[in-house]
Amino acid sequence: MTNNNDPADKVEVSKDEAVTRVTIRRPKSLNALDVDVLESLAEAVTEAGHDGTRVMVISGSGEKAFVAGADIGMMEHFSPREAQEFSRKGHYLMLALDRAPFISIARVQGYALGGGCELAMACDLIVASEKAVFGQPEVGLGLIPGFGGTQMLAARIGLSVATDLVVTGRRIGGRDAAALGMVSRVSAHDRLDEEVEDVVKGVLQGDAHAIREAKRLLRQSLYMPFEIGLSSEAASFGNCFDRQPTGEDRKTSLRRHVGKKR
Ligand code: CAA
Repeated sequence: MTNNNDPADKVEVSKDEAVTRVTIRRPKSLNALDVDVLESLAEAVTEAGHDGTRVMVISGSGEKAFVAGADIGMMEHFSPREAQEFSRKGHYLMLALDRAPFISIARVQGYALGGGCELAMACDLIVASEKAVFGQPEVGLGLIPGFGGTQMLAARIGLSVATDLVVTGRRIGGRDAAALGMVSRVSAHDRLDEEVEDVVKGVLQGDAHAIREAKRLLRQSLYMPFEIGLSSEAASFGNCFDRQPTGEDRKTSLRRHVGKKR
């Protein structure tokens, strides 16, 4: 298992106006997640939460893998306590993505296994190539998914299929993952970047406040009782009328969508 020596080299972050692009650069270990990568990713997510980022695209370097999982070489030496801390570091990142005030997109061109599948699922959308491969192979290693997979997978694709994937370690392709609802959009391999940019463009066209609120409410619907979620939605809907949408006044914005009839 080859490691880059400088932790800063393992994750590249670039920002262009409201779009932050984060690339995991460990191609020799198929972008496996070690402690440095988890920490750098969490740092990038936290920073982007304060610098006006509206969309974050997370990618893995090379053609072969988004992320092939947690770093197996690193885990070989773990005590139970170290393993628990490693799991918590993964959770810290997944929670940061959950709470982030921007939309995160996982760009998955190849393997997204174990912790890689979990990282992709923690993002708001997954845009995958038809060559992408998703799976939770941990039980084959005598482990369970440790970066939130046991909590996220059933919510994404239902308990029955989630159980199948986790207990058999079965891998699925990009198109099957899209059919199951795990992947938001799937594209031909050579059109993946176009598809990602289409999502980025779509998000940037919407009102920033409205998108932040919609993300927060959608996420909270996963664990909040229906009635409380609805009450939260009503409060947020009301608040939308207390502010101007990006770039134009409320009346113009509403009327623009009903043509010239009124
Ligand atoms: N950690 C560290 N290194 C990894 C890795 C991982 N998860 N996955 C692949 N690599 C390394 C390999 O060791 C190999 O390095 P060397 O050339 O130095 O030997 C290099 O990446 C290329 O891998 P392969 O030669 O195996 O490539 P392949 O095309 O034959 O197979 C693969 C690709 C199917 C993804 C295979 O590498 C594989 O099965 N990897 C492990 C996947 C896995 O089990 N992930 C789950 C990890 S546990 C986890 O993630 C727990 C959690 O939830 C937190």
